[in-house]
Amino acid sequence: MSAAGALDIQKVNKSYVHEGRPKLVLSDINIHVEPGEFITVIGPSGCGKSTLLKIVAGLESKDAGTLLLSGEPITGPSQNKGVIFQEHRLFPWQTVEENIAADLSLKKSEIRRKVDSMIELVRLQGFEKAYPKQISGGMAQRVAIARTLLRNPKVLLLDEPFGALDAFTRTHMQEALLDIWHTNRTTMLLVTHDIDEAVFLSNRIVVMDAQPGRIKHILFVDLPYPRNRLRSSFQELRTLVLRALEHHLDSGKEAGWEI
Ligand SMILES: Nc1ncnc2c1ncn2[C@@H]1O[C@H](COP(=O)(O)OP(=O)(O)OP(=O)(O)O)[C@@H](O)[C@H]1O
Ligand SMILES: [Mg+2]
Repeated sequence: MSAAGALDIQKVNKSYVHEGRPKLVLSDINIHVEPGEFITVIGPSGCGKSTLLKIVAGLESKDAGTLLLSGEPITGPSQNKGVIFQEHRLFPWQTVEENIAADLSLKKSEIRRKVDSMIELVRLQGFEKAYPKQISGGMAQRVAIARTLLRNPKVLLLDEPFGALDAFTRTHMQEALLDIWHTNRTTMLLVTHDIDEAVFLSNRIVVMDAQPGRIKHILFVDLPYPRNRLRSSFQELRTLVLRALEHHLDSGKEAGWEI
């Protein structure tokens, strides 16, 4: 039996039908995520990152393999798996606080207390009554994160959550996400295109390849938090990930690589 928050992805395969024929999109995906671990998945466009995340979220079926959260099979979407997409998906007709509280079946006073603590966590005090169109993209994404965290998920699944944001807001959001992770210790599985983001955030980086989507390498990021992008150790890890993505890595023979 795995500990609460552990995520096991074992021998997962997935095909889609393309031009009348099955096309293998994910091949033999194996990842064990420790409870409270921060894992980033990086790889070229079309390698199946979003498909993998949707399968883990229970939003998409798999053809083969096993998926376990806290040792229990994943059979569909549930509140113990929070999902954040690139676009925030807030209800435009609801305020920030209404969006965060949406569909919660709790007593009013309980909701107020929880919403207030979430608004504080994502630093949106003063914007409780604003509508999505009145706040920035970064703020809207923080509302989406707050709404998801309020459901107390065991694992947070993030698909390029900061992809649509400018570089400055993106850096700020990465720091905010680390704050939240340090406070809540939620297990994190984040998909990104951004090497810098992967090295800045994660305990381990899963590097994927395309056609079919498969795992090429898994890298331990052995740097203390908070990480400094200007340090040479940070730059060295960036280079290592880049080389792994560009096929220049001698698999298994370089320090830091699991496979
Ligand atoms: N619903 C679907 N039906 C058919 N094919 C699909 C479907 N969803 C994804 N695919 C195909 O599966 C492959 C993987 O897609 P996916 O969206 O998972 O890639 P990705 O790694 O997230 O790419 P990106 O970095 O561009 O977001 C692609 O070839 C895509 O065309
Ligand atoms: Mg994608």
